[in-house]
Order: sequence, then structure tokens, then C-alpha cells
Amino acid sequence: MKVLFVCLGNICRSPLAEGIFDHLVEQHGLSHKIQSDSAGTGAYHIGNLPDERTRTVAANHGVKIDHRARQLSKNDFDEFDYIIAMDLSNKTNIRNVARGNKAYLDKIVLMRDYDNDRPDLEVPDPYYDGIEKFEEVYKILLKSNEGFLKWLLNKHKEL
Ligand code: 4NP
Repeated sequence: MKVLFVCLGNICRSPLAEGIFDHLVEQHGLSHKIQSDSAGTGAYHIGNLPDERTRTVAANHGVKIDHRARQLSKNDFDEFDYIIAMDLSNKTNIRNVARGNKAYLDKIVLMRDYDNDRPDLEVPDPYYDGIEKFEEVYKILLKSNEGFLKWLLNKHKEL
């Protein structure tokens, strides 16, 4: 099972989502069965480490992040089972890369659909805010990823 987290720059939200998800998967002893990666729809930060604020918040919560920013490509739709958008704008951009391919479009989901408290909201873009916003994003991503993993294990009994 392969899951891809996608935001705009691939330096704030999606690498954090990937790190948190991997951490949860490891706690469930499922690292050999479920893998994840992250990507951005934009090209501005290709090759960069995650934002320093993302790395600080991850380290504060014992979440390991080892990622270099890369851009989403059409090939990702063949490689990954689920493509998880952080917000509606990301989702629109991801759909554009899928170019109307029904099988590809069916793989796209929204991160907060799995936030049991507020499935109506998006994961906010923290880039122009302070470290407190990154901490808020961490909490949202933890809750959403717990919900997503639970949903995934229920849907795919073979895992
Ligand atoms: P991300 O945040 O999409 O969560 O990685 C952003 C990073 C960079 C920019 C915007 C959002 N930017 O405009 O460069």
C-alpha cells in the first residue's frame, strides 16, 4: 500500500503529514506493508529540505522527517494507491495533473475528510505564519492521519 501526501510547496504540510503517518504506521508494526511519500504541485522548492519550522515542530514531537521537496508527476498516479491533498486548491491542482483519467481521479482524497472533528475544514497553509501555526497544523495532521489509518485498515483487511 502506497500513500502520497501532496501540498503546494512540499516543504511545510505534506512532509510533516508523511512523517506523522510513517510514525503511526510504525507504531502499528505495519512499516513493511504501508509506505508513504510526499510531493508538491508547485516547482518552487524542488530539492529543498522541509521548512525549518516544520523540522522544529516535527523534532519537538519525536517525528522523523527525511525528505527533499519534489514535484508531483503523472507517474505518481501509477505508483500510489492514495493521493492525499492538504486543501481544496491542492486538490484542484492534483486533478489537473490527472488529466481526466478516471482511475487516477479516484485515488485523490482530502486530508481532513478523515478528521472526525472537522471534516469540513482544510489543512491551513502555515507558510506566511509563525511557528504556532505549524504547531496547529501538526495537531490537525495527527488527528487526520489517525483517522485515515483507521479507515485504511478497515477498508483493506489484508493489511
Ligand atoms: P506547503 O506550504 O504547501 O505546505 O509546503 C507552502 C510552501 C511554500 C509556498 C507556499 C506554501 N510558497 O509560496 O513558496
